[in-house]
Amino acid sequence: MFEQLSPLPADAILGLINAYNQDANPDKVDLGVGVYKDEMGHTGVLQCVKTAEKLRNENETSKVYIGPTGEAAFNEKINQLIFGDHAILAQDRLRTISTPGGTGSLRVAAEFIKSCNANATVWMSNPTWANHESLFVAAGVKVAAYPYYDYETNSLDFDGMMACLSQVNAGDIVLLHACCHNPSGMDLTQSQWQSVTALAKERGFTPLIDMAYQGFGQGLDADAYGPRLMASELPELLLSSSCSKNFGLYRERIGGFTLMAKDSTNANVSQSVVLSVVRGIYSMPPAHGAALVSTILSSEELTAQWHQELAVMRERIAFNRQSLVEKLKEYGVTRDFSFIIRQSGMFSFLGITKEQVATLVNDYSIYMVDSSRISIAGINKSNVDYLAKSIAAVIK
Ligand code: LMR
Repeated sequence: MFEQLSPLPADAILGLINAYNQDANPDKVDLGVGVYKDEMGHTGVLQCVKTAEKLRNENETSKVYIGPTGEAAFNEKINQLIFGDHAILAQDRLRTISTPGGTGSLRVAAEFIKSCNANATVWMSNPTWANHESLFVAAGVKVAAYPYYDYETNSLDFDGMMACLSQVNAGDIVLLHACCHNPSGMDLTQSQWQSVTALAKERGFTPLIDMAYQGFGQGLDADAYGPRLMASELPELLLSSSCSKNFGLYRERIGGFTLMAKDSTNANVSQSVVLSVVRGIYSMPPAHGAALVSTILSSEELTAQWHQELAVMRERIAFNRQSLVEKLKEYGVTRDFSFIIRQSGMFSFLGITKEQVATLVNDYSIYMVDSSRISIAGINKSNVDYLAKSIAAVIK
């Protein structure tokens, strides 16, 4: 049976991990996969996570099944993280479950959407995270794209986006990035969120918000502006969250799937469908990452430490944006790269050709996705000169 298979190429993002690891060049630079790296190029374990892990080791009493919703304390804390002190928390309309990472959550969302409306189309930004399209297509959900990033001006094509979304039907889904748009770093402003929300109300489409980077953009609350606004204005909402980046829990695979229904009866019915979806895919989520997050968020001291560690990551990324743009100028680049400073979060496009990306990878050992998306956290004081000099040489 297996002989009939043909090999498939490695994933466009994850494939870069191997390529980078196998490269013997001591000057190599990893701007590929979206993981935070410190000044030493290392993705360490947060101190608050270390402490939570120690506590868990001492206090854990059982490894018995946790059930398809995952840990209740985690689910409650995630609601608070996303919605702050929003009135929705008291309305019994939210249902959140723990999921295997943000990707697991998106798959649950896809299956749930199919149960609601087998003909629904999920509209996603052009461009979007490389895995969005394949994930929804694999689940048998129709997908379509709305304009988002203008590659000419390195800015948001908001008019194009609104023109397209104003044709979207009731019962369709519009996938939005809460903050730190992956791959462009180009986020909606508050007034743009207001316009999209008004349009969702008018057209009757349901937003699905992918919130994989809360805290990496402007801060935990500012990054949640869109979801909180939509929770105030709309009857229904879907949201996928992830603790991979902001808690650095990548390999623990912990995220959340949240639905907001129009009332509590509807929330219960929807939740029953979600739990049946979960049972049919992975039965129940892993517990370790959820326990760490709920331990941190249940302790004032650990929460304060987490806020500090998150701020360090966020500020370092903002610093890297600034420093790359300055260094490019220093190395004689006249092209305007200042959009990198105006963008936010882990990623930006350099806006160079596929051939130029290939040259940077093959001749300079500078790794990035071939769309020229760079993971800004991979820049540091030791490699920024080499990086800027190499880009200058390749684009001149
Ligand atoms: C990325 O976009 O690089 C990250 O979200 C990691 C991934 O799974 O693709």
